[in-house]
Amino acid sequence: MTIDKKYIDLFHDVSAKAAYSSYHLVGKKDKIAADKAAVDSMRNELNKIDMNGKIVIGEGELDEAPMLYIGEKIGTGNGPFFDIAVDPLEGTNFAANNLPGALTVISIAEKSNLFNAPETYMDKIAISSPENGVVDLDNSVSKNIKNLAEHKNTSPENLTACILDRPRHKKQIDELKSLNVKLKLITDGDVSGALYVTDKKFNIDIFLGIGGGPEGVLAASALDAYGCYFQGRFIFDTDEDKIRAKKMGISDFTQKYELNQIVSGDSIFCATGITSGDLVNGINVSDDKFISETLITHKSTNFRKIIKKTHRI
Ligand code: FBP
Repeated sequence: MTIDKKYIDLFHDVSAKAAYSSYHLVGKKDKIAADKAAVDSMRNELNKIDMNGKIVIGEGELDEAPMLYIGEKIGTGNGPFFDIAVDPLEGTNFAANNLPGALTVISIAEKSNLFNAPETYMDKIAISSPENGVVDLDNSVSKNIKNLAEHKNTSPENLTACILDRPRHKKQIDELKSLNVKLKLITDGDVSGALYVTDKKFNIDIFLGIGGGPEGVLAASALDAYGCYFQGRFIFDTDEDKIRAKKMGISDFTQKYELNQIVSGDSIFCATGITSGDLVNGINVSDDKFISETLITHKSTNFRKIIKKTHRI
């Protein structure tokens, strides 16, 4: 089974319209309002699509999120069954402070093919080539870098690693520095961080470190379409985290997930720029139209492109 090509345009529009809605709140120092604008638009537009959609990654559980909550049924109820993961505003700080890199992100897979990720952190690693065994979450940073350098027929000082700039990453960052690896330290937005390995133009050889679990699943779905390697391990620090995880069917709290355990089958991924960043440009408004830029993948047709689209307001 595959997802019909017609859904590319439909989900592309959902993503672009949510980004446009959030764009109005860019630089207003209000993360919650910027997020809400994107969420409201996305939910509204998703509900117009002929499908039996189910939110598997969203704004939280029903008790904490009235819109796009995990388990919410979405769409007209006529049509194929999809699992849908959304991050209507990825990079709330970027949007609130008018900084580069705010995105709207959505991923669609066939029913039961997208991981139902808990709202916890995830330890992640991604590289551009798909081979198993080059890098692994259980290896030390040094081993991963040495393996990757060997795999790429180069030396560690020619590699660049992308990692969120957080105190929790001090040890990895120190190790990367001692190996003379070039760093790209990002302040937020690790969906983009992971996607930098998809194209040589971003000059990132490896993405690693701990970020949001939902962001990990979303990135994994695009990485799958690009034929990249990704591994993730959720981090369950508290009893509450573990109880939630159990409810989602996770019993092994230390399991490492390979890409095909996170997303399988066909998928569509869209990431639209709200503010301009390395990955895509942001929303541009003029007169009665706005222009969006969206990175789109559709696995079964090998579609992987950044699409610029003009929309009437
Ligand atoms: P938000 O858009 O929800 O603010 O997330 C931004 C982000 O940087 C993600 O890209 C990343 O996965 C996560 O936050 C990292 O979390 P933390 O800021 O707690 O380190």
